[in-house]
Amino acid sequence: MIVCDKYKKIFKLVTANTEYILKIVHKKYVAHLFYGKKDLYDLTIYQERAVDFAPYVANIGVNFSLDTQPYELSFFDSGDMKDTSIKIGNSNGDSVTLFYYKDFRIFRGRINFEDMPYSRGGEETLEIIYYDAVSECELHSYYTVFPECDTITRYAKFVNCGERSVAIERAVACQLDLKDNGYSLVTLCGDYGRERNICVVPLHTGIQGIYSKRGHSSHQFNPFIALKGKETTENEGEAYAFEFVYSGDFEAQAEKTFSGKVRVLMGLNHETFRWRLDKGESFITPETILTYSSQGMNKLSQNLHNHIRSHIIPPKFAYAARPVVVNTWEGMYFAIDENIVLQYAEKAKELGIDMVVIDDGWFGNRCNDSEGLGDWYANKDKFQNGLAAFSGKIHKMGLQLGIWIEPEMISPKSQLYAQHPEWVLGCRNRDLSLGRKQLVLDLTQDQVVNYIVERLKKAFSGVKIDYIKWDFNRSLTEVGSSFLNSGRQGEARHRFMLGSYKMHKLLTEAFPDTLFEGCSGGGGRFDAGILFYCPQIWASDNTDPFCRLPIQEGTALAYPLSAISAHVSNSINNPFEKEPDYDFRCNVASECMLGYEMNISQLSEEKSMQIKKQANAYKKVQKLLLKGDRYRIDGMQSGEYASVCVSKDKSEFIFFYRCTNNIKRTKIQLYGLDPSIVYRTENGIEFTGDEAQTVGIDLPLQSGEYRYFVLHAEKKI
Ligand code: DGJ
Repeated sequence: MIVCDKYKKIFKLVTANTEYILKIVHKKYVAHLFYGKKDLYDLTIYQERAVDFAPYVANIGVNFSLDTQPYELSFFDSGDMKDTSIKIGNSNGDSVTLFYYKDFRIFRGRINFEDMPYSRGGEETLEIIYYDAVSECELHSYYTVFPECDTITRYAKFVNCGERSVAIERAVACQLDLKDNGYSLVTLCGDYGRERNICVVPLHTGIQGIYSKRGHSSHQFNPFIALKGKETTENEGEAYAFEFVYSGDFEAQAEKTFSGKVRVLMGLNHETFRWRLDKGESFITPETILTYSSQGMNKLSQNLHNHIRSHIIPPKFAYAARPVVVNTWEGMYFAIDENIVLQYAEKAKELGIDMVVIDDGWFGNRCNDSEGLGDWYANKDKFQNGLAAFSGKIHKMGLQLGIWIEPEMISPKSQLYAQHPEWVLGCRNRDLSLGRKQLVLDLTQDQVVNYIVERLKKAFSGVKIDYIKWDFNRSLTEVGSSFLNSGRQGEARHRFMLGSYKMHKLLTEAFPDTLFEGCSGGGGRFDAGILFYCPQIWASDNTDPFCRLPIQEGTALAYPLSAISAHVSNSINNPFEKEPDYDFRCNVASECMLGYEMNISQLSEEKSMQIKKQANAYKKVQKLLLKGDRYRIDGMQSGEYASVCVSKDKSEFIFFYRCTNNIKRTKIQLYGLDPSIVYRTENGIEFTGDEAQTVGIDLPLQSGEYRYFVLHAEKKI
């Protein structure tokens, strides 16, 4: 709900448990008053006072400074001395920016984006319109409320209403000014194969932040940040989260001043972005999801999970059962052979696996990673009767078929490159860096996007494809486009992203029943932008379960379990296993969207039985992971991972515990259950939700180098 006090010029954005309040002051400025727990804010708190050395607005008086008050957006070099969110390069050559409040509008729903991902639905939107007479531009700032998720989304639109061209030099559309509360900055940091580790660092005076300049959201920093109060635990205390619905370059930061103010900014990375706006043109920024919790980090994560499931992921797939897959990559790499894949399929059928996924290596001349990208034709030596016949065989066996693509890339050794060397993204007169021996297609151009889409449609015509894994295996460098004029080269990165989104839109529309899985050399593009098209994303190329635990734990802080794809494999990257322990591996992978990635046709009888049992058990609980609320358990030590996923009606839960250190825990308290319900486990143990929380449940753990435990219980009837 959005409440507007027209007389006092106060706007309240109200969700189930939160309130976001802004106010127009001195007719021209949009002050931020409050974001937090509902019904807590006292409207008399807003005060203006003189601060030595702070520039003030001369015609209002010394008490009113753009540097000392909290604002909804801030403007470069106009009196706010902190890092500011909006900067325009004016036609006179300077970049002094100052937009004044002009008007507002409240309307039901929201305006959907045509060319970018966004949050679907939304109850109501507040549009604040600003105007700057020097640049002659309007700035529209949008806030949409999603009451049931306790989330708000923000984005902005710039419109050049004047005669002269300007340049948007910084378009960070989400700003939040707060009073410091001993906050720590929570980020998801990592590297290739070690993505999204949770990092918590107390804010210090100055700017702390994360960013990507890689052309994808990146393995290094995820476009998510949170602020966590000093006393905040998993279930108590306040926290804020910000998640960018975008897959390219971004910046996210918190600036703390010496006098205890905090400014959060999240948006397009201004270092790699400059957008020329000619007369009559407009520019829309990507959007940010904001949420607040007064009930600790678990509620913060749940708000984001609910929002992503209900408003980002394509509705058709959001809560639908996902297939248990076997993927060829770690079993075959590029040596795809249809006869061996058929052997996989026969075995998959026996094990209760639903789908066979042909990974890289099925097309063009692709026998290793040095060639073939762009040549989207099934390789005739590998599929002698073509893909359609192969798909027919797989489906006849009662299985589904998945396939791998990397449509944004091109190998210099490919037929496509020989025909169209000009279709490569890169600035003129420079040597282009390679990444995994490949170049990037110039998706700023519709003809390139359309060619690839049509080629893939032809390659898959008549082929029943149930799943597509969409990979992206290098970062962008030397970015420019030979098709853009020199005044627009600063737009190439965002235009590339728009081209990629167009490709995502066209391909997902062309294959409406196909489940898409995002991927980028593992988890290099794990973000809400990709989730708008692809309901799940491959979390990491590191499939060792010990390494996967922190990756999955970090990912689940910001993204629902249904978005995280995880496989049981043979890869050993840890000192604890001498040979892969499939039960432990399954315990780790099966908290997410489960698959297998090994040569299953060569499994021993014993291992086959194990996998059969696992796949079967997983299918019974997958709906909990798709729809439930996840609670991390407080008080875990380093190396301990424990979580409960509870159905919305609290009648069922699944609990996972893993310990990779020598911790001897014999009991554990479970959160999120209904205290009054008597739960019964599969082997007949009964306890109330209250007992599980206060006394705890026994952990019947095997001794050994590492330990794990999974418990599924339902309401006793
Ligand atoms: C990187 C992905 O993350 C892997 O799973 C696999 O698909 C390879 N690319 C294939 O080239």
